[in-house]
Amino acid sequence: MEKLGLNTLREMFLSYFEKQGHYRRESFSLIPRDDPSLLLIGAGMAPLKPYFAGLKTPPAKRMTTCQKCIRTGDIENVGYTDRHGTFFEMLGNFSFGDYFKKEAITWGWDFSTNVLKLPEDKLWVTIYENDEEAFDLWHNMIGLPEERIVRLGKEDNFWEIGTGGPCGPCSEIYFDRGEEHGCGKPDCKPGCECDRYVEFWNLVFTQFNKEEDGTYSDLPHPNIDTGLGLERLACIMQGTNSIFDVDTIRSVLKQVENVSGVKYQDGAAETDVSIRIIVDHLRSMTFMIGDYILPGNEGRDYVLRRLIRRAALHGRKLGIEGPFLSTLCDRVIDESGRAYPQLEKRRIMIRRVVNAEEEKFASTIDKGMGIIDEYIADMVISGSHELEGAKAFKLHDTYGFPIDLTKEILEEKGYSVDEEGFAAEMTRQKELSQKEDEMEGAGWEGKSKEFVLHGETEFTGYDTINQQAVLESIHSEQFEELRDIKEGETSIFVLDKTPFYAESGGQVSDEGFIYNEKSGIAYVQSVKKYNNIYAHTVDILRGEFSVGDHVDAMVTAPSRNMTAANHSATHMLHKALREVLGDHVKQSGSHVDKHGLRFDFSHFQAMTNEEIKQVEDIVNDKIRHFIPVTTKVMDIEDARKEGAMALFDEKYGDKVRVVSIGEFSREFCGGTHVSNSGQIGAFKILSESGIASGVRRIEAITGQSILDGYKRDQQVISETAAAIKADKDLLVEKAAALADEVRALRKELAEVKAAEMSKDADSFLDDAKEINGIRLITKQFEDYAINDLRSLSDNVKASNKNVAMVFASVSGGKVTFLVSLTDDLVEKGLHAGKMIKEIAKAAGGGGGGKADMAQAGAKDPSKVGDAFAKAEELL
Ligand code: ALA
Repeated sequence: MEKLGLNTLREMFLSYFEKQGHYRRESFSLIPRDDPSLLLIGAGMAPLKPYFAGLKTPPAKRMTTCQKCIRTGDIENVGYTDRHGTFFEMLGNFSFGDYFKKEAITWGWDFSTNVLKLPEDKLWVTIYENDEEAFDLWHNMIGLPEERIVRLGKEDNFWEIGTGGPCGPCSEIYFDRGEEHGCGKPDCKPGCECDRYVEFWNLVFTQFNKEEDGTYSDLPHPNIDTGLGLERLACIMQGTNSIFDVDTIRSVLKQVENVSGVKYQDGAAETDVSIRIIVDHLRSMTFMIGDYILPGNEGRDYVLRRLIRRAALHGRKLGIEGPFLSTLCDRVIDESGRAYPQLEKRRIMIRRVVNAEEEKFASTIDKGMGIIDEYIADMVISGSHELEGAKAFKLHDTYGFPIDLTKEILEEKGYSVDEEGFAAEMTRQKELSQKEDEMEGAGWEGKSKEFVLHGETEFTGYDTINQQAVLESIHSEQFEELRDIKEGETSIFVLDKTPFYAESGGQVSDEGFIYNEKSGIAYVQSVKKYNNIYAHTVDILRGEFSVGDHVDAMVTAPSRNMTAANHSATHMLHKALREVLGDHVKQSGSHVDKHGLRFDFSHFQAMTNEEIKQVEDIVNDKIRHFIPVTTKVMDIEDARKEGAMALFDEKYGDKVRVVSIGEFSREFCGGTHVSNSGQIGAFKILSESGIASGVRRIEAITGQSILDGYKRDQQVISETAAAIKADKDLLVEKAAALADEVRALRKELAEVKAAEMSKDADSFLDDAKEINGIRLITKQFEDYAINDLRSLSDNVKASNKNVAMVFASVSGGKVTFLVSLTDDLVEKGLHAGKMIKEIAKAAGGGGGGKADMAQAGAKDPSKVGDAFAKAEELL
């Protein structure tokens, strides 16, 4: 058997099946598309489900892929065995209603024996217990002896994903590694627990669909789905039992050794575990980020976060200091970049994302580990062996420790975690935040059940801003139905037709007025939409309105237009961000009104000034090109085909409205827009900031708001110029000169004050009283800062001995005391800190300090004399 590299084996498989008429397609993304049942792709067939189920037409009836896969179900074993990994590649050949068992088995055997040249006598197969057709093919067509065909039950030889979908009986091909790897039992064969027989290829005869209720139905046509684990195959071909010895993986492992300075298989089982975990997780994180998954708190984003953090923690166990994973991702890319060119293309981004996440975790890891130690100490005291759920939750919530990491750390030390309690805390937090969300939308939403709205409103606002309509119903703010409403009151109007846009998709509602034929005027404050009913909250400015009135509904043009400009600018910003930062940028929220726009998006670090400028330049350039903006309602699939951007978690119907700004931007959107990019006028970013982990926010303005800002700035400039009596053109020079002057004056003032003080110091001594041979100076000042008192005493001390000073400064009804002693007095045993306690107390205060200098505050300025008397007494 020839030792073949992993990359070579992949190519051999794909080109073999290409020769058998299979369409060779590159791996699908790890992110499942339109499949809420899956978090991540974990099998070659997973992205092909709609083809098997007959829901979509496949590009070809025969297909072959090498699919990147992630499975985290066994994550607890990863690192502890030679075979488990979260990341792996699955080779597969597929038939969608084309060939079936005969061809699948023929090619499976031919590739194994003639291409890979695996010795025939080392190959075994298993079949589903009563699959006589498979038995016949293996035995009579291939010629495999009966004793090397093992019949196994549903547990082993029926393949399905737990959550359902295409499935069927299967037949697996095994490689016999030899007696020396076995358990020695006489009946040892495939299916045995021991390591002798390695299953490497699973041929699934996909003929059923497992429904949501657990029953099986026939698929429209029988299919073939095979899965050959590339790493496993490489193990066999390279004569090892460990995926960590496979050439490309070993190369990553070597790099981990280099960075950590720890040798693999050096006798320490614990460090081996850490090395294997890091190697495996590096592969997963690199591929995940390569598919634009970013670390986060939910779903697959959270899986990624856990993997990065777990790897980071094991790095520390190996003694690696600081972030190290991103440089190691490079090695994964070096090994796999040819087969997966997007890794190569996204190398910098992958590195940055990993690094940012590692740094974020590093900042809390020590604190978290410290807390875990405290918890363990508590458990030792209380004799408990299980960490409370609430504590595990705190580690998760405050220190970013994923639950399984906490579990792993504790388990190593013989403790467990109350996982149910943890889950309960999670649920509680979710409910709390949901409640908060609900509270925000309370009022209308909360009462909408009682709010029986009539009819349906036709929205005409895409085409017009003035609409004749009938007032269908009137409601009070408390949602009671009314017949009519008078001047000065606020109510809710429902019209049969309306040009008013109702708040949605991040865009606020239109403003405007509703007039009736009785000279009534209602001001429209806001509009909300309930299914197809538009509810206008209005203030009656004049006259009265009754149900059935014929009205003119008129949207205020400038506010509509400015909002539209901001909305179109938002689309352009979105596109420009993707151009400058990369396709991982996804909108996560937006707010558009007439004043400006706010745009939240996924990105892993702060934008540089240069990037912000580039984005601004792109948008302004498109504005100056006067690009027509068009909208079209179309089938969702057609829209997707045309590359229209959809919001990630948004649900859309079959028909969608697509807003296109020339060829530049195309998005699903129900908002109102300008008809030409030129109408936006200009675009300016005001700020870029982080609002959550991995989420950035841009605030920006357009046309009118930029002009308003310009006017405000001009006014500030004029007023500043007038205030400092400068010519507007020379404002900067004049302001700088003034600042210099102020600085010089301050310096001069300080010098003058210092000179005054030293003069004062000499005169103080004339007033000193001698008590027990010590010269005591007591003096009261007005509005002196403590620093001034200190410099005064320093001056005295500089050229005198045997002096005790007690200074008081009265300011704002309060007193500050300073007691200062020359060194010789301190040597004699006097202590300023002790003295000041008594002195300040005499004036209703307290303080303390060192032996040579102390300060205190007191409340009663009238008692300063008493304090000084106290000083005399003390001496
Ligand atoms: N879908 C089959 C598996 O994953 C081939 O094993």
